[in-house]
Amino acid sequence: MSAEITLTHDVANPALAAEGRKRIEWAERNMPVLAQIRERFAKEQPFKGIRISACMHVTTETANLMRALKAGGAELSLCASNPLSTQDDTAAALVHEFGINVFAHNAIDRDGYYRHINASLDIKPHLVFDDGCDLVNTLHTTRTEMIDGIIGGCEETTTGVIRLAQMSKDGALKFPMIAVNDTDTKHMFDNRYGTGQSTMDAIFRSTNSLIAGKVVVVAGFGYCGKGVAERAKGMGADVIVTEIDPTKALDAMMQGYRVMPMHEAAKYGDFYVTVTGNRDVLREEHFKVMKDGAILSNAGHFDIEIDVAWLESHAKQKNPKIRHQTDEYVMPDGRRILLLAEGRLVNLGAAEGHPASVMDMSFSDQALTAEWLLKEAKNLSAGLHNVPESIDKEVARLKLESMGGKIDVLTEAQDLYLNSWEHGS
Ligand code: ADE
Repeated sequence: MSAEITLTHDVANPALAAEGRKRIEWAERNMPVLAQIRERFAKEQPFKGIRISACMHVTTETANLMRALKAGGAELSLCASNPLSTQDDTAAALVHEFGINVFAHNAIDRDGYYRHINASLDIKPHLVFDDGCDLVNTLHTTRTEMIDGIIGGCEETTTGVIRLAQMSKDGALKFPMIAVNDTDTKHMFDNRYGTGQSTMDAIFRSTNSLIAGKVVVVAGFGYCGKGVAERAKGMGADVIVTEIDPTKALDAMMQGYRVMPMHEAAKYGDFYVTVTGNRDVLREEHFKVMKDGAILSNAGHFDIEIDVAWLESHAKQKNPKIRHQTDEYVMPDGRRILLLAEGRLVNLGAAEGHPASVMDMSFSDQALTAEWLLKEAKNLSAGLHNVPESIDKEVARLKLESMGGKIDVLTEAQDLYLNSWEHGS
């Protein structure tokens, strides 16, 4: 009897499995660090007997993380952390080619999204992987009976870490969660180079617009915003940055960007990208002054940064899907505002998310952190914790090695100098 019969899963189209396998293997070629970890896991079986629920973007890169965990002995159940990012071929391949339980359909509605989160929890996890904190939130609100069995978990993204930090501060978080997002090898690379490239990729796939000579407004100058601004500038755009933090705004100015409040920037932009993690960054007062043909996109985790409800209720006409993931709203005065990927995470909704090469680092951090967490959880309190620096440095070292980079080693005198205070200048 095939193992498939015992699987519990819900994917859109099993016939896409072979296509999905090819793309998962393509991503694997650019994930050499994770591949090394998978090989070691296969030998050492650190997750033997461990059940893991993961709520992550169901992409080819995540598929390779799942393969590494499975090779290490884990029993897995994966659901989507965003309804638009699910790659149906990847989901099908995970179930039918790799024997991993998946609950995910592209573009599923809100009820289906939560049904899938709940189904993935039915495995009764020991460990959880979250991307945005919806799984952990569900555990703490409606599936509290599971909490006692949970050893801990890992959070992938800035927005999730912000939510967990609040829970931790309020004493509401009932098990240790590790902020994988906060490692240098994650946020300095994935958030910056990943979001920068994949957001531009999404804008191109949706609109095929020329960026050179256009005004691109980037809301938020964290690592993600920096990445988007750099890529847009590199392609010849005039970039305006909006911020609420004076230090970040200053940094943007010193990097040569114009900085102004959104109510001013809203008059100039040809393209808008929100990457703040906050809500209502683009709203009525901004929509009212935007140019005809302004193109809006959100690269923050949740679809709250652009007030889509206002556009829906105030446009005199909506022309849905005039191009790939592009909806056109015609304002009462005739101006047209274009919204990409329904205001959801544009790089995953209209493109394929960050390239595998950068997810190699983020997901190596995840894999090594989960292994460490299993050993260390007994010494960790319930609440939010950092990844040990040794894991961060190990991922950097392996990635550097895989890219052919080499570094210097301190001489004895240099080491002594750095580790003492007696020596003056
Ligand atoms: N987050 C951003 N890009 C991603 C990708 N390619 N896979 C999984 N999660 C992501």
